[in-house]
Amino acid sequence: MPDSHSTDPKQGEREYYAQLGDAAIAHAIRKPFSDENCAFNLANLAALFHLLPPPPLRILHLGCGVGWLSHMLAERGYHVTGIDIAPEAIAAATRRRDEAGLTDLVYQLGDYEDAINHEPYDVVLFYDALHHAEEPSRALTTAAAALRPGGKLIAFEPGEGHHDSAKSQQAIANFGVHEADMPPARIIALGHAAGFSRHQIMPHPADLMAELYHPDYAVATDQIALARRQFDRSWQLVRELWREPRRHAFTVLWK
Ligand SMILES: C[S@@+](CC[C@H](N)C(=O)[O-])C[C@H]1O[C@@H](n2cnc3c(N)ncnc32)[C@H](O)[C@@H]1O
Repeated sequence: MPDSHSTDPKQGEREYYAQLGDAAIAHAIRKPFSDENCAFNLANLAALFHLLPPPPLRILHLGCGVGWLSHMLAERGYHVTGIDIAPEAIAAATRRRDEAGLTDLVYQLGDYEDAINHEPYDVVLFYDALHHAEEPSRALTTAAAALRPGGKLIAFEPGEGHHDSAKSQQAIANFGVHEADMPPARIIALGHAAGFSRHQIMPHPADLMAELYHPDYAVATDQIALARRQFDRSWQLVRELWREPRRHAFTVLWK
């Protein structure tokens, strides 16, 4: 439990991994394969790798946690800097990097709401991390300042309803972390105020894939049932494309 007398609003974030312990850190490092949301994360990664120009590219990964995604990006050949506020996460990420001998991967303990003095980056990435900010506007200001002109911010964040979900309420109560809703509309409004000039909302890849490759198909018993399911699923796909992105999606902003 977080210290209820602390005046540090980020104490829960700083101590989260220490509270979780070694087994949970080991689980997080082995993501996406260790995780029940494996398909969700893999779908996001496929979209991310589609969006990114080929290496070399300088990527700043804010709120990188134990670095499972930073590590993958570095293995692909990108120059990656991962920043996180939790010392245990950065320590675990650094150990794994050193074991793998990756040289183009830098980890730093830091607060993404503070200015970062660095070379300009081509891409800033938030993956499931901006919604933990105390002041998301400050985090977006950091991101804008870190990017070269024309560089882009890519944000995969939980959308509407995240704060009120049972899992988030449990995390807030047990660890004192922030769990805000971070729908595209909020990221875009704050992003424009922070200096971004253009934006694009894209459907959540995992939602599209969940319709296209639904487990229903595996249990259909005849050809007509399969055709019906495919028809139904196609309608759901159109719905996801045009309706759902407003509630939750991923967002790209250009500086
Ligand atoms: C839900 S975790 C996701 C971590 C990682 N992106 C992943 O996909 O596993 C949110 C992360 O944001 C980090 N974080 C929260 N507030 C932060 C801040 N102000 N500055 C830097 N990192 C922060 C947390 O320490 C945590 O690692």
